[in-house]
Amino acid sequence: MKTAFLSAIIMGFIAPSLIAQVPAASYALCAACHGPDGKGIGAGTPVPMAPALGGSKLVASGDGELFASIVFTGIAKEDAKFLGMMAPLGAVMKDEDLADMLTYVRSNFGNTASPVTVSQVKAWREKYNGKPMQKRTDLEKQATTGVAAKP
Ligand code: HEC
Repeated sequence: MKTAFLSAIIMGFIAPSLIAQVPAASYALCAACHGPDGKGIGAGTPVPMAPALGGSKLVASGDGELFASIVFTGIAKEDAKFLGMMAPLGAVMKDEDLADMLTYVRSNFGNTASPVTVSQVKAWREKYNGKPMQKRTDLEKQATTGVAAKP
């Protein structure tokens, strides 16, 4: 996480002023697009950077597997609703940082979903890391039916 975070700063991906506002270190990379407050950078503008994580069904679904799968595979870009793109980011984060971040997002920004453990993240990494990007419509279907992601 530290390395990814540092290279993100070097790439100018994360503005230093943003870092000061980030509430949890493990969430810093995500905050670059989803905002320190989880509302999404540019929320309220016609084309925001990324969707809100506060109130997201995909974040709160089940035990967190669907949410984790998104971080491992990313989301295939199908339209121009958002300026940014949800790339696969799980490979650049350690299990501990991922568990911490997933738990943080599931219990903040108005979300009240259960915590995620390091052993869950280890199993989900085996299952999803390196798999093709998922489609938003499939993810939304899975969040509604409660069936775990099938990339
Ligand atoms: C470069 C910008 C960017 C970064 C960095 C980023 N995301 Fe995203 N994220 C997006 C965009 C854009 C979408 C919407 C993709 C789409 O649906 O086409 C998205 C979608 C999501 C969704 C689905 C939300 C919903 O309800 O539709 C989740 C969950 C998510 N991201 C979590 C994360 C997490 C956790 C991190 C940090 C590890 C992260 N993202 C980092 C841009 C980003």
